[in-house]
Amino acid sequence: MAGKANKSIFFCQECGYESAKWMGQCPGCHAWNTMVEEPVRQTASGKASTKISPARRGTSRAVTFREISAEEAPRYATGIGEFDRVLGGGLVRGALTLIGGDPGIGKSTLLLQAARLMSAAGSRVLYVSGEESLSQIRLRAERIGPCEDQLKFYCETDMEEIQAVIETEKPAVLIIDSIQTMACSEVSAAPGSVSQVREVTGLLLKIAKSAEISTFIVGHVTKEGTVAGPRVLEHMVDTVLYFEGDRHASYRVLRAVKNRFGSTNEIGVFEMRDTGLGEVENPSGFMLEGRPEHASGSVVTCAVEGTRPILMEVQALVARTSFGFPRRQATGADINRVNLLLAVLEKRVGLNLSDCDAYVNLAGGIRMQEPALDLGICLALASSFRNAPVTGNLVVFGEVGLSGEVRTVSLAEQRVAEAARLGFEQCILPAALAKRIKAPAGLRLTGVGNLEDAIRAAF
Ligand code: TYD
Ligand code: MG
Repeated sequence: MAGKANKSIFFCQECGYESAKWMGQCPGCHAWNTMVEEPVRQTASGKASTKISPARRGTSRAVTFREISAEEAPRYATGIGEFDRVLGGGLVRGALTLIGGDPGIGKSTLLLQAARLMSAAGSRVLYVSGEESLSQIRLRAERIGPCEDQLKFYCETDMEEIQAVIETEKPAVLIIDSIQTMACSEVSAAPGSVSQVREVTGLLLKIAKSAEISTFIVGHVTKEGTVAGPRVLEHMVDTVLYFEGDRHASYRVLRAVKNRFGSTNEIGVFEMRDTGLGEVENPSGFMLEGRPEHASGSVVTCAVEGTRPILMEVQALVARTSFGFPRRQATGADINRVNLLLAVLEKRVGLNLSDCDAYVNLAGGIRMQEPALDLGICLALASSFRNAPVTGNLVVFGEVGLSGEVRTVSLAEQRVAEAARLGFEQCILPAALAKRIKAPAGLRLTGVGNLEDAIRAAF
């Protein structure tokens, strides 16, 4: 084009890789068709910032380990137990936290609830929304409950305006909903593009660290890559949480995938109600609600999410196929794993499944890919095939190997304890674990070495 040549750079929408020319595949993350052209404006300050200014030269120095103060960063409680648990014991002052998740999963609801409780506990909270109008926020807040005056709302997408309001309000907690709607006028790219998202996050990082404001950033995840995914941000923030769950099922899981102030093993379980998100303190009871007793094809197994054992029901339906080749389908479980287990049942146990359709479902809309579910899936399939229910009040867990052996899994004590807590009477588990673990009161442990033993013990 004639005239002033506008400089532009190609960014990968997945990982933020930069390149001067377009490429079909990103060299950074090997994703296809993710490079998008974005205009950039070079500023003089951008070049100068790499140099040390004369005034600062000589004032900073490296320190020894002993000089580092052992003081723990102060934490606030958000007032939501499950949320605090995932954050590693509360919100750290000045921490930047990203909450990612599909649209409509409940990110705004969770943050509004936390904002309400934190403001009620005396913290100044500023909720900035670029997605909803004040009246829409009001409608949501009405479902959740009244808000204190310490909680202020502001609808804006321009970062300069937001920065000015932050300076006057001086909040202790800031919520930015969502990063994809915010824009700095210095960057000419559209809101939601990689360069815009990066610039806005950089600015928020600076504000959070200099004024010690605990900041939550909401980020949408999209598969199409039209909006910059929060992947680019994950490197910049202190904590990354993902809010996930089936939109049609009411339970939600909040999971930490990065946490500079705590473990990433914790999960929080919530339930979407018509008055907002409720904490689920007993996820096992929640998952097993409405389970059919003494029905064939239904087996209770114990999976571990993070470090928490959760009992769940595996359902299987095996029926004679009416077409040329059998249909296999899995909801919640990995279909490849189910196919493998069907082959093991056929070859090692002698169940003639090759002319049967098989459907496996983890009840409650939960998604789980843990080897410990193998035994539960196998027994559910066997139970449906024989059209006979497994013995009452039974929990099973264990990994199944290709020769039909039942192998040990991690965190067995916790799984057994959870089964006992919910009043189960028998637990079928790998033989090596049955020898090692002391049975809790009321629970009989049955160790099995292979799938045939397990089937004998279960029926
Ligand atoms: P929302 O927090 O807006 O999701 P996100 O910010 O992640 O896009 O939640 C959206 C869904 O939650 C919406 O479909 C309505 C539902 N919802 C309830 O079921 N109960 C409630 O009390 C609230 C506030 C929302
Ligand atoms: Mg929202």
